[in-house]
Amino acid sequence: MVIEKEMKLWFLLALLCYGFGNANGRSLADLETFNVINFGARADGVTDNSQAFLAAWKAACTSTGAVNLVIPSGTYFLNPVQFRGPCKNVQSLTVQMQGTLKASTDLNQYATARVWVEFGWVDHLTLTGGGTFDGQGEVTWPLNTCPRDQNCKIPPTSLMFVNMNNTIVNHIKSVNSKFFHIGVLGCQNFQGSRIQITAPAESPNTDGIHLERNSGVTISDSEIATGDDCVSVGQGNSLVTLNGIRCGPGHGISVGSLGKYQNEKDVRGLIVRDCSLTETDNGIRIKTWANSPTSSVCANMTFENIVMNNVANPIIIDQSYCPYANCMSSASSKVKISDIHFRNITGTSKTPVAVTLKCSQRVPCEKVSLQDVDLTFTGQNSTSATCLNVKADYSGTQNPPPCQ
Ligand SMILES: *[C@@H]1O[C@H](CO)[C@@H](O)[C@H](O)[C@H]1NC(C)=O
Ligand SMILES: *[C@@H]1O[C@H](CO)[C@@H](O)[C@H](O)[C@H]1NC(C)=O
Ligand SMILES: *[C@@H]1O[C@H](CO)[C@@H](O)[C@H](O)[C@H]1NC(C)=O
Ligand SMILES: *[C@@H]1O[C@H](CO)[C@@H](O)[C@H](O)[C@H]1NC(C)=O
Repeated sequence: MVIEKEMKLWFLLALLCYGFGNANGRSLADLETFNVINFGARADGVTDNSQAFLAAWKAACTSTGAVNLVIPSGTYFLNPVQFRGPCKNVQSLTVQMQGTLKASTDLNQYATARVWVEFGWVDHLTLTGGGTFDGQGEVTWPLNTCPRDQNCKIPPTSLMFVNMNNTIVNHIKSVNSKFFHIGVLGCQNFQGSRIQITAPAESPNTDGIHLERNSGVTISDSEIATGDDCVSVGQGNSLVTLNGIRCGPGHGISVGSLGKYQNEKDVRGLIVRDCSLTETDNGIRIKTWANSPTSSVCANMTFENIVMNNVANPIIIDQSYCPYANCMSSASSKVKISDIHFRNITGTSKTPVAVTLKCSQRVPCEKVSLQDVDLTFTGQNSTSATCLNVKADYSGTQNPPPCQ
């Protein structure tokens, strides 16, 4: 008995030493956990949890070492929240989200923020756990006038990452966003995987993942079914890899739209690999506005091993993009497109024109290549290609036949 007591004492002492041994925080193996429930969150689907979530975030962010923020299963009603750093003494912050977050449908709640849930200015954040962001967009889609009105009030994006470094987003879901599902802006080293995105084909502006001004982004093994682009690679991105993405319904995987605003930055270094597109309005698309105010470059892109299943416009470069009935001008785009390679693109096209390369007259496309393209029309006729202001290089199988 005495020996047993002594051993217990030793064990306690050892624990204490381990716990307080290094004064400036704990060892990496020692995770501190903050559960939103302990900060007053209620998973009843009705109570607004924004204050409780923010209090839990503040505790986690001002802690030290490796930190866990836990959102257990259950449904949490949530008004807009901003989870911002810097989290000075935190080495890594893992948000373990099992629960479902439900957005407010009252658009007045988003008067100041264009975002529902924002993570910003954090280094080494991981978001995981299989949880769901439910934007409840089905209530507000009828109020969205953006598809026909350039001066519309832009509804909030569901989940946004702003100016983050070394972010991992793994195994999360987003359903029925009011506008974009996920935005990634100004981030370095962002790794997304096993992301599941769902919204109806006819839901307006529900882009799956929109990227802008990032460097080093990988999105892999994800399923995106939505009403707009599955992934859109906007201005200012470099070194982006998309692989293992199953897209559809939706508007396909897009670069752009580019050349709409002043001082847009170049887009360089994109790889899209091992993806499938099913019943989408476009396949692989590069779109630039006709009347771009300033010059920029869109270069070094490879699209390979892509399967198209009944896709309209499977391969399309469109430098006179205009989604509105009447655009301001029909000027020629100043976005220079070069070094664009399509390799091993197969499957079926819903439209007879399977390859469209419509480049700018002012700055024609350069170094565009197609290798082993085999796209058959789901109707009776064979497929064809149309080209403008581009002289592409062809090799291997070519169906449709090359432009003359
Ligand atoms: C991210 O890295 C850049 C430099 O590479 C730095 O200027 C910036 O402060 C970092 N941001 C965060 C949130 O750590
Ligand atoms: C082109 O992009 C690839 C992949 O993103 C990158 O590794 C490579 O360095 C880029 N090449 C040039 C010349 O920038
Ligand atoms: C072409 O792409 C398909 C679909 O991704 C893939 O299964 C096949 O292995 C690729 N072929 C080559 C030669 O890489
Ligand atoms: C098929 O091709 C013929 C001859 O070029 C054309 O008249 C017809 O409209 C095409 N049909 C479809 C469905 O595109």
